[in-house]
Amino acid sequence: MNETPKIPNDLDSFWMPFTSSRAFKAHPRLHVGAKGCYYTGADGKERIDGTGGLWCCNAGHGHPRITEAIQRQAAALDFAHSFGQGHPIAFEAASRLVDLARGFDQVFLTNSGSEAVDTAMKIALAYHAARGEGTRRILVGRQKAYHGINFGGLSVGGIGLNKGQFGTLYPAALHLRHTNLPENAFAKGQPETGAHLAGDLQEIVDTHGAHRVAAVIVEPVSGAGGVFPPPKGYLERLREICDTHGILLIFDEVITGFGRMGTAFAYQHFGVTPDLITAAKGMTNATVPMGGVFARSGLRDAFMEGPETMPDLFHGYTYSGHPLAAAACIATLDVYRDERVFEKAAAMAGPWEEMLHGLKGLPNVVSIRNAGLTGAVELAKDGDVGAAGRAAYASLWDKGLIVRPIGDSLAMSPPLVIDQEIISTIGELLREYLAAR
Ligand SMILES: Cc1ncc(COP(=O)(O)O)c(C=O)c1O
Repeated sequence: MNETPKIPNDLDSFWMPFTSSRAFKAHPRLHVGAKGCYYTGADGKERIDGTGGLWCCNAGHGHPRITEAIQRQAAALDFAHSFGQGHPIAFEAASRLVDLARGFDQVFLTNSGSEAVDTAMKIALAYHAARGEGTRRILVGRQKAYHGINFGGLSVGGIGLNKGQFGTLYPAALHLRHTNLPENAFAKGQPETGAHLAGDLQEIVDTHGAHRVAAVIVEPVSGAGGVFPPPKGYLERLREICDTHGILLIFDEVITGFGRMGTAFAYQHFGVTPDLITAAKGMTNATVPMGGVFARSGLRDAFMEGPETMPDLFHGYTYSGHPLAAAACIATLDVYRDERVFEKAAAMAGPWEEMLHGLKGLPNVVSIRNAGLTGAVELAKDGDVGAAGRAAYASLWDKGLIVRPIGDSLAMSPPLVIDQEIISTIGELLREYLAAR
């Protein structure tokens, strides 16, 4: 059969994620290059990457040490799986990873944050079952949470729009209330009020019985839902309730992991240690897909009781510990260490906060939130929810700044190697846009 050949780059064959295909095709925005804190567009223009890719290019784009490590690994061992056999580089990556998280002894490797979350949920269920507490089936998430898009993560996630098309999902998922209180609209960093909202977990325990609750999962700083730092005392209270009732506490650090709060993981910054951590994104500086679940010391022991010939966990991905991802991970961790990337992030968190909160008082700015090197400027609704955010995104793109619209919030999470000058330029571009609205 003679078919008309497809035109390369026809913009139609790629069914894009979280994208309105019609809107995109009407105004395609394409990158062709990236270096440091900048993207180069197909139109030849340089733009500041205010979103660090998608909260993930922590060491900046195009780092030569990471690129070279991936190239070398592709030439040496392109692929080997890890189902009962292995390759040294995956073990090396795993031990380097757990080195960053004292008190966590294993990491189960995945290929994305969504897979890490679903893996953590399965580990939690299997952990309780292995200890003879198989009645613990309830998994608790939180309103406005984003835990990826697989069935588990979507179930505990709290963004209605993401769930609407898909029906029932995991049947035993419950949710805490979100922590975005109106009185904290312009709080700098952690809000003063809201710790009481952690008491929702106690209410779930009172209603359903502790023997039915397996785990609670929260992002230490809620990210893709709109950037909501935890109220002071909130994470501590969750930890206490979990300890009292034998519930596992999972921190989803897919965004906050690898330096975004100025420490390797946000749990270290906030001083509250979970039982499981999910991570991805910055694990390879986003060069090769990789994620993982960190398990606190001793947790895996529960899986060591069955016959020695049986897998500990009937779970895993063809690409768990993929050699290219492992090589990228090790090189990325080298860069983070040698270039003191986390320390740089900690040093820039103050100027970043100052720049963002300097926008208070500009027309239609209704909230400003920040934590580490994340932040969001929320605009007043202008017609439909999201219309103001989309308009700002489009205009700022044209001016040379990339932000992430989440409803009417402009979320930002720049590479951690950002400097004072780029922070000031971001501030000027935002100010110019907001003042002229
Ligand atoms: C907290 C959190 N968890 C999970 C995910 C899902 O990660 P991925 O898109 O790699 O599947 C994300 C993505 O932004 C996230 O922010």
